[in-house]
Amino acid sequence: MDIHPFNIATINKAVEFLHSGKLVAFPTETVYGLGADATNDLAVAEIFAVKGRPSFNPLIVHVRDASMAKEFVVWNELADKLMQKFSPGPLSIVLPRKQNSRISLLASAGGDTVAIRIPSGKVAQELLKASGLPIAAPSANRSGRISPTTAQHVYEELHDGLPLIIDGGNCEVGLESTVVDLSGNDIVILRPGAITREMLEQALNRKAYSVHDTKGLLKSPGLLASHYAPMLPLRLNAASASPDEALLAFGRNILSNAKYMLNLSEEGNLKEAAANLFAGLRKLDKPGVYSAIAVMPIPDTGIGVAINDRLKRAATLPA
Ligand code: TXA
Ligand code: MG
Repeated sequence: MDIHPFNIATINKAVEFLHSGKLVAFPTETVYGLGADATNDLAVAEIFAVKGRPSFNPLIVHVRDASMAKEFVVWNELADKLMQKFSPGPLSIVLPRKQNSRISLLASAGGDTVAIRIPSGKVAQELLKASGLPIAAPSANRSGRISPTTAQHVYEELHDGLPLIIDGGNCEVGLESTVVDLSGNDIVILRPGAITREMLEQALNRKAYSVHDTKGLLKSPGLLASHYAPMLPLRLNAASASPDEALLAFGRNILSNAKYMLNLSEEGNLKEAAANLFAGLRKLDKPGVYSAIAVMPIPDTGIGVAINDRLKRAATLPA
């Protein structure tokens, strides 16, 4: 793994890597991001593995411009206003996924929304243009640590498993983007940033809530629904499945007479399993066809910890 200076040759190399499902760290005007092709489940799963995230937080998907965003999310008038005023720039907007959106469900953490951002940073813009891809990118730090604002920071955080870091110098903003949820009835600032509440309210001519003044609101079903929970009960650590259950399998060691089986990874590869998890759950979630989803044990190591965390949440939420 190397740090490469920002130039055409580096961008070409980065584009090649992104198209082949590899990760690339690159600067934006806010912080350095750890980028992957947002339509590639395995590449997105690799982000979680490299960051060591304990759970599947949804990721921000970076796009070239609003017209590209409209391919993937359900656009609305609020989005138009904010993007006209603040994009490209340090603002991420959360919108409903389009039906059959090509964005990996894993980037939405299995939910119904996608956070979209049009970065203004020159390197990020060049990468988006040259690749033609939507790029999922969290900050390029290990989970629970401070976001990197130089290529050297990224190197210190993540040099294992990261093929390419593009060095574009220091990040201008240095603070992660403002994240604002436009998918519900109220406008909610999920993360404060350089685009302030006052700026948002003025642009929209509407009240914007911060997470602090909306504890109750965040518990409203509309927002909770953004976190996918299956309708069927999940039975975790299942050694086998009964004939009326659907089996979510892992590995080759299967004892089952289930009606239907979907294997997260026959090879027992956790990264592959993470990439298939949310889509797999959706596929098996057919009340009236199956009585429950039986889930085979997943090793609780590496990205398996995040898989198990998400499975536990899905199993305890009310149907
Ligand atoms: O400035 C930034 O936004 C940087 C650069 C690389 O663009 N990225 C960044 O990503 O900070 P990350 O993953 O470290 O933080 C993303 C934040 C998280 O708090 C996450 O929960 C929230 O955005 N988020 C992402 N998608 C969401 C969604 N669909 N719904 C709600 N929150 C979302
Ligand atoms: Mg972060």
